[in-house]
Amino acid sequence: MSLPSALLPSTEPLRVGLIGFGCVGQGLYNLLERLPAPGFTVARIAVRNPQKARSLPPERFEFRADALIEDDSLDLLVEVIDDPVEAFRFVGLALRRGRRVVTANKAMVARHLPALLRQQADYGGTLLYEAAVCGSIPIIRTLDTYFATEPLTAVSGIFNGSSNYVLTQMRARGTAYAEALAEAQARGFAETDPTLDMAAFDPRAKAVILAAHAFGLIPNPADVLALGIESIAPIDLKQAALAGHKIKIVARLLTLPDGGISVLVAPQRVAPDSPLFAVEDEFNAVLVEGTFAGPHALRGRGAGSFPTASAVLADLNALRAGFRYAYAKLDPHQALATDLALEVVVRSYARQRPPTVEFLGEPYAEIVEGYRFQTGYVAYTTLHRLCDDLRADGVFVVGTGAIQLLPDDETDPQLSGARAAVRFQ
Ligand code: HSE
Repeated sequence: MSLPSALLPSTEPLRVGLIGFGCVGQGLYNLLERLPAPGFTVARIAVRNPQKARSLPPERFEFRADALIEDDSLDLLVEVIDDPVEAFRFVGLALRRGRRVVTANKAMVARHLPALLRQQADYGGTLLYEAAVCGSIPIIRTLDTYFATEPLTAVSGIFNGSSNYVLTQMRARGTAYAEALAEAQARGFAETDPTLDMAAFDPRAKAVILAAHAFGLIPNPADVLALGIESIAPIDLKQAALAGHKIKIVARLLTLPDGGISVLVAPQRVAPDSPLFAVEDEFNAVLVEGTFAGPHALRGRGAGSFPTASAVLADLNALRAGFRYAYAKLDPHQALATDLALEVVVRSYARQRPPTVEFLGEPYAEIVEGYRFQTGYVAYTTLHRLCDDLRADGVFVVGTGAIQLLPDDETDPQLSGARAAVRFQ
């Protein structure tokens, strides 16, 4: 039987200009080498540092990325450097030349998505960034295309491999925080500045990107609550374990009953019946809840050279096929909803003054092994305002998963009661 020629793989490999040869760039190069017919060839590679020892002969590298962007004999460009400022310059330059570009830089995409959309609309280029969110999990295209018209009620999950690796090692093996983090760095999971992982800025950027595709909202990353695990101590894991829970950094994008969309990233106590409970080490997971489609769970490696490179390759194939994101739900008038309160456990040292966290109502307080635990509801905006101070004071905050809506009109007790009664688990 002969197949129509359109279904047969093209024999002509497309020429790729690769900007950056770190963990992901090298992974892409090696991955293409291993495939019998990858359909792409890395024609030119630009890197920043001429002194650095690399796995390929020096003549394979050049040091002016702009030259690749200007080279029209290259079919596709891949930007995988870790400096978001330079990355935005390169990608902007390429899009203004109408080029087809793949990036893995989540901080850059989250910070500049409106500008990147304008540049594509004005100059006809295309930008894809599946590798920017959750490594090899195909979540952006799933949200953008498959769920383009499905009203989603929630998207949540574990969006950072390094912190999940650290939490797993601390809990399962008793590894010290610093040692577990060093391992995450050695395995190529962590960012060059691991604060981005541990303070949850990296999963926050990913949550912002998913908000655009899932709900049409592009929040300013700085407005989104991000609580990390830099202050975590073994006692926090132990207290969670008493109830059979694990601690994970969980990102949550929620549709509120009034239609508002809230986005937050925070450590959370996760119960065994959650699909996130068994997601360990550098694995990530994304849970998608659709009004009509129901619940879904996607799980995969969220960090690492080959899984991330595999997502870049998927984007190269998508570009070859003429794909571009639809952003079908984009609504420039939508604002981030912050009229929520989270139930949290605030852990500090008993010998210190209690942290000045304004709980809504009297928190439940207990002292365990020289630590103070205070449990109660705290407004989203309060946590957002205090998160730097809490970090600086070594105070650890972990959510129970429960969220309440704040009354939007204190003078209307009926409305207040209705809103406050809504709980998200
Ligand atoms: N540092 C990131 C992580 C890499 O640990 O998830 C993948 O985005």
